[in-house]
Formats: sequence, C-alpha cells, structure tokens
Amino acid sequence: MKFSAAFLASAAALLASTLPMATATPVAARDVFVPPITYPHAGTVWYIGQTHNVTWDTSKAPVNITNGKGIIMLRKGDLTTPVILQNNFDIRKGRIEVRVPWVVDGSDYKLVLFGDSGNFSPNFTIKGSGVAW
Ligand SMILES: *[C@@H]1O[C@H](CO)[C@@H](O)[C@H](O)[C@H]1NC(C)=O
Ligand SMILES: *[C@@H]1O[C@H](CO)[C@@H](O)[C@H](O)[C@H]1NC(C)=O
Ligand SMILES: *[C@@H]1O[C@H](CO)[C@@H](O)[C@H](O)[C@H]1NC(C)=O
Repeated sequence: MKFSAAFLASAAALLASTLPMATATPVAARDVFVPPITYPHAGTVWYIGQTHNVTWDTSKAPVNITNGKGIIMLRKGDLTTPVILQNNFDIRKGRIEVRVPWVVDGSDYKLVLFGDSGNFSPNFTIKGSGVAW
C-alpha cells in the first residue's frame, strides 16, 4: 500500500493533535542521539600530522543515550574508509582531539561521527602528502 505525502502529513498532524505530548514521539526514538558535527566545516583545511578538535552539537542530547560511546571515521568521496580517527570516547563531550592521518590530498573528505547512528560533516580538505587523488 502506498500513501501520498499529503495523506501521511495529515495523519501525522492528526496523531499529534489527538495524542498527549509525551506519546507523540516514538519511545524507541527518544534516546537516539545523532549529533551534528560543527567542526570541520566546509572550507576547513587540515594538514597531515596536525591535531584538531572535532566538535559537535550536544545541546539536544537526551538524558539517557542508547549508545554513549562515539567513533569518528574518515570518508572520502562517497565511501567511508576503514580509517578510525578516534574511538571509545563519551559522545556527550562535544569535542575530541584527532590527529590528521597520512592520506592522499583531497577536498572531498568528510568525518563520520557514530553514536547511535552516523552523522557526516561537510566536505573538507586534507593536504600534505603531495599525492593528489
Ligand atoms: C582541544 O580542546 C581542548 C579542550 O578545550 C584543549 O585543551 C586542546 O588544546 C584543544 N586542542 C587543539 C589541537 O586545539
Ligand atoms: C535515565 O535512566 C535512569 C536510570 O536507568 C532512570 O532512573 C531515569 O528515569 C532515566 N531518565 C530518563 C529521562 O529517561
Ligand atoms: C562533497 O563531496 C561529494 C563526493 O565527492 C560530492 O558528491 C558532493 O557534491 C560534495 N558536496 C558539496 C556540498 O560540495
């Protein structure tokens, strides 16, 4: 069965207006925290070997998080690489230092911050290898 977007929107509005506030949000989604990355941003340039604080917005963090441990991985183009920049940190901290790894130069890098699920940073640049890709 296929519902139109308009039907779904009006059904959602009806639900929201008839249910008490507390049950309007699905219980399973309440503790899932997918924080947006605030640094690096579009236009950021990192050089191999530097250390930087990756930052993310924790203002919407629920009291109880399903998975409070974070992992930061590196993406290039449309692929998540196996490169782990940091692991096993408290996702409520909002920042973590990473060292820029030895990778080919490129302007299509992104970070992925995993907690309950992954969030991508904007594209940013890594330089310093002298090898363009
Ligand atoms: C990262 O943030 C911490 C805490 O504010 C600070 O002590 C540290 O110097 C920062 N590191 C860099 C590379 O800026
Ligand atoms: C968070 O978890 C604690 C311990 O399980 C519980 O007592 C508390 O009610 C929970 N808070 C919320 C807002 O779910
Ligand atoms: C980011 O990089 C990807 C992969 O190269 C590209 O498809 C996308 O258009 C870029 N996004 C922006 C906002 O430049």
